[in-house]
Parts: sequence; structure tokens; C-alpha cells
Amino acid sequence: MLAARGCRLILAGRNLAELEKTAADLRIRHAAEADVVPFDALDFAGHEAFFARVLTCAAGSLDGVVAACGYLSDQRRSETDPEEMQRAIDVNFTSVVSLLNLAAVHLQQWAAGYIKGPNRKESAEDPRMKRSMRFLAHTGGLQSC
Ligand SMILES: NC(=O)c1ccc[n+]([C@@H]2O[C@H](COP(=O)([O-])OP(=O)(O)OC[C@H]3O[C@@H](n4cnc5c(N)ncnc54)[C@H](OP(=O)(O)O)[C@@H]3O)[C@@H](O)[C@H]2O)c1
Repeated sequence: MLAARGCRLILAGRNLAELEKTAADLRIRHAAEADVVPFDALDFAGHEAFFARVLTCAAGSLDGVVAACGYLSDQRRSETDPEEMQRAIDVNFTSVVSLLNLAAVHLQQWAAGYIKGPNRKESAEDPRMKRSMRFLAHTGGLQSC
């Protein structure tokens, strides 16, 4: 949909071969500009460098960010295996907070743009985005417990 609208897309993820295929498809079908950047949600130490690389691809400015990574853990296993539970929390929650915080700080510069997380969408004009993304995540995360 975004490619059909003429948006330039930066695709990020672990499966680079798959992402390259998708990018090639977007280029052919929509004449879209599409780049691929490696991303592992669990590489927290690499989040800033990843985001900097995305900004370089985007010539320094993003219109929007869509976060859709997720890990469906085995319910039974995550109840008894702390590592499994931590993995689910880190992929589905902590890593998304970390990245969307970087995105929010970037978009706040222009007071424009949007962030689409797995379960909601925020606009940079929304006063809530001016509050700390971490604070929102903290309260939102606890409400769901
Ligand atoms: N499907 C729905 O109806 C629905 C509805 C509401 C909310 N959600 C939420 O949306 C998110 C995605 O759900 P989905 O159904 O689209 O799941 P999905 O089809 O299994 O997709 C999960 C994606 O996350 C990526 N991923 C997993 N671990 C990663 C990591 N460590 N680093 C980078 N990427 C990683 C996977 O990439 P790989 O190919 O590398 O594994 C895959 O592309 C979840 O948080 C889910 O709770 C989904």
C-alpha cells in the first residue's frame, strides 16, 4: 500500500534473502525505492546503530515507522522457562519500546509523521508522543498484566 502510494521503503529484519525478494518485488510492481537493512530485535546494543543506518538510507528523515516484529512463544513453556518468557517480552515489548523511542525522538524534531506499533498508531502531532515513550510503555505494559 505504501509502495503503491510512491513511498520510499526501508525494510528491516533478520531474513535478508526474503527481504531482498520483497524489495525487488516492490521495485518491479510499484517502481518503488526500497532498501534492506539487517535488524535483530534482540541486539539491543545495536539499536542505535541500526536506526542511524535507517536514517542514512532515508537521507536523514523518516515520515513514519511501522514496527511489526513479534515472537509467539509457547504458552506452557513460557510459564515455566524464564528464558522463554524473557525472550517473548524482549521481542514483543522491550525491543519495540527501545526502537519506537528512537523513532519518536526523531519524528518530534519535525512534529510530523507517524509510528505504527504492533497494537496502536501514534502521530507526532499527538501530545502523548511528546511524553516519554518509555513512560507510556511502562504504564501500558503494566495495564496489560
Ligand atoms: N497477526 C495478528 O492478527 C496480530 C494482531 C495484533 C497484533 N499482532 C502483533 O503483531 C506482531 C507480529 O505478529 P504477526 O502475526 O505478524 O507475527 P509473524 O507473522 O510471526 O511475524 C513475526 C515477525 O517478527 C519477526 N521477528 C521475530 N523475532 C525477531 C527478532 N528477534 N528480530 C527481528 N525480527 C524478528 C519475524 O521475522 P523472522 O522471519 O526473522 O522470524 C517475523 O517477520 C506481534 O507482536 C503480534 O502480537 C498481530
